Amino acid sequence: MFQKIFLCITFIQLSLLEITISTPKLPTYFKICHKSDPDLGKCIKRSVEELRPLLTKGIPELNIPSCEPLCIPEVVIDQGTGSVALKSVYKDIKVYGPSKFVIKQIKVDLEKNKMRMKVWLPHLEVICTYTMDGKILMMPISGTGLSRANYSDIEATVTLRTEKIKKDGELYYNVKDFYVNFDIGHAQIFFEDLFNGDKDLGEAMNLFINDNWKQVANEIKPVLEDHIAAIFKKFANKIFHKYPIKTILPE
Ligand SMILES: *[C@@H]1O[C@H](CO)[C@@H](O)[C@H](O)[C@H]1NC(C)=O
Repeated sequence: MFQKIFLCITFIQLSLLEITISTPKLPTYFKICHKSDPDLGKCIKRSVEELRPLLTKGIPELNIPSCEPLCIPEVVIDQGTGSVALKSVYKDIKVYGPSKFVIKQIKVDLEKNKMRMKVWLPHLEVICTYTMDGKILMMPISGTGLSRANYSDIEATVTLRTEKIKKDGELYYNVKDFYVNFDIGHAQIFFEDLFNGDKDLGEAMNLFINDNWKQVANEIKPVLEDHIAAIFKKFANKIFHKYPIKTILPE
């Protein structure tokens, strides 16, 4: 934990060092919004939307990888109790579809350093390998193999809290908190090779999971939300720590 914080601080210092050496100009792909814009939310919405092709491809000069697919190395879910008492590990997770986001609503409060976005995602396909052992809704489940899932009609709420940090006489935004909350409209989940590849048991279990996908998805959701929030918090800070506020959000 402390190591991570230390690395993060070092990263901030390094990126700030870079700024003092060469004051970077904002690349043309950033649409600048003005603080005095009476419809600042609308401007930021367009600015984020114009980043879409870049987020899809990645932004090498900012060390931001491609979001299509979004890659998550590992998610561990260790539920002790509840309806899903399960230890499961998901690896090499690839999420296809995040770049198709539609921003439905955006609320910016500069005074309170807060921003809230409502985003709609038509479809996400998630492919990963899994290992699990435990119980889902009282039913024993175990296996290891490939997992594929489709989630559709997803309403996401993204909340950002920022603070201003000063370095070498310049003010920068720092994203302090980044929260993501999903509301999934529909899901189809499939685990290959459940129960050591027992076909009948595996098929029955997959049917059972899909009949109860809401409970299953609700158990996995918080951990996934945290991982996705952490990824986008890092991306946002890579941009914010490089360009001072007067460049990103001039008067
Ligand atoms: C997910 O959707 C794709 C088509 O978009 C389909 O080929 C695939 O079989 C679906 N997967 C599951 C687990 O339903």
